[in-house]
Amino acid sequence: MPRIGHATASPSLALIKYWGKLSAKKNLPATSSLALTLSGLETVTTARFAPSDSVTVNGAAQDMQRYAAFLDGLKHELGVTEGVAVDSANNFPTAAGLASSSSGFAAFAGALSALAGRDTPPEELSRLARIGSGSATRSVYGGFTVFEAGSEAARPLRDEGFWPDIRVLLCAVSEAKKPVSSRVAMELSRTTSPYYGEWLRSSEALYREAISVLETRDLPKLGPLIRASYLRMFSTMFTSAPPVIYWLPESLALVKLCEELRTQGVSVWETMDAGPQVKLFCLGRDLETVREAVEKRVPSCRTFSASPGGPLCAWATENDQ
Ligand code: PMV
Repeated sequence: MPRIGHATASPSLALIKYWGKLSAKKNLPATSSLALTLSGLETVTTARFAPSDSVTVNGAAQDMQRYAAFLDGLKHELGVTEGVAVDSANNFPTAAGLASSSSGFAAFAGALSALAGRDTPPEELSRLARIGSGSATRSVYGGFTVFEAGSEAARPLRDEGFWPDIRVLLCAVSEAKKPVSSRVAMELSRTTSPYYGEWLRSSEALYREAISVLETRDLPKLGPLIRASYLRMFSTMFTSAPPVIYWLPESLALVKLCEELRTQGVSVWETMDAGPQVKLFCLGRDLETVREAVEKRVPSCRTFSASPGGPLCAWATENDQ
């Protein structure tokens, strides 16, 4: 009976962003990030031995060049010499800035480890997932996670039960594939933005403050730090050559909507990643108010709500169950 490796993982959404690499080859982050793993959004991946390597995402065959370095490194570390067929499916939009690469590469590493018959510890899976994507290191763990500048793996900070009332409303304003990958955009920021050095310096201070404020679970105190982090990150993109502008008019409409909601007493704090989508942190009691306001302001927007999610799960079966 052929063995199948399975894994599920959820996306990791950064409150304090990782943006820029210390080493492009080793994919080491230049800034420390603090993130939340999101429940309700999931990548489900299976890996099987096959005559040659292949990867599909939501049924579509992928360009193997994109995966070659990651897959070769992973196979080497896990002692896999055979070809593998890896099939992955997301229950949310892929490659459009909803962090599908975080859950995708984490689940990939988990499924291959299960296929290889390994019981790889999470810190090792986090290190392996890093080769695919920096944010994937964090998706190995549930709850609040950190991935520190220069480190090879993320670590869990607080589990998914730490702040049960925190919610994220993901607002997909466009489901088109993003025009520039985060890998390329990060390198442009690092090599061409005059503000990159200041970004590195100031984001370390934001990170330290956010870690300490998180302990209080006080969203009105944490929110301004979340906001400062993504806006500073985007400042390096807007000022790179050529500039990288992921934002769409609908993205800005939601940024302005959050400002308005805050003046009305709703504690809602937006963030964005390498794409036009806007993600809103709020408390459970405000979620429906925020969702209604978003859908009214940008009717074309698709929303998904999430709460703190659990860690990656990986297992093997001996048949297709
Ligand atoms: O995971 P990567 O290497 O694609 O980088 C993603 C970086 C951001 O999503 C923009 C920020 C973060 O910390 O997740």
